[in-house]
Amino acid sequence: MSDSKQLIEQLLAPARAAAKNAYAPYSGLRFGAAALTCDGRIITGCNVENASYSITQCAETNALGTAIAAGVQPGDVVAMLIYTPGKLTHSPCGACRQAIRELLAADGQVIATSGGGDPMSWKVSELLPDAFVLSPTELTVERR
Ligand code: THU
Repeated sequence: MSDSKQLIEQLLAPARAAAKNAYAPYSGLRFGAAALTCDGRIITGCNVENASYSITQCAETNALGTAIAAGVQPGDVVAMLIYTPGKLTHSPCGACRQAIRELLAADGQVIATSGGGDPMSWKVSELLPDAFVLSPTELTVERR
């Protein structure tokens, strides 16, 4: 069985369950994300919208935030599956690609799937080429 097929088998049900919990009264678009850690934990997230539209939270970043809060180390998420019901398969937005780039393993796998069509699949490096990162020297806070 291919890597992608195996990941879909493992992560589709949790991602669908998360999508069912989405709070999406404005767009009507439910997203569920399931993150797989290197030690086999599965952590999910869904989108959470708000009447103040710009504070809407995406499923992927919610799943990653929950993983970090549970003690998962950056780089220890080895795969993420993103699920939306309906016929169209939706790829992750730009902001989520930036979060995925920082928190998934460098060789991690991201899969998007839906109620129809073929799944899409990327390596993290393919999702956001030439990503913005900070070098260790830039992370040094200068104090007066
Ligand atoms: N959304 C996600 O949850 N993830 C993405 O990668 C793209 C968009 C959500 C946010 C909003 O609730 C709805 O989809 C429509 O943009």
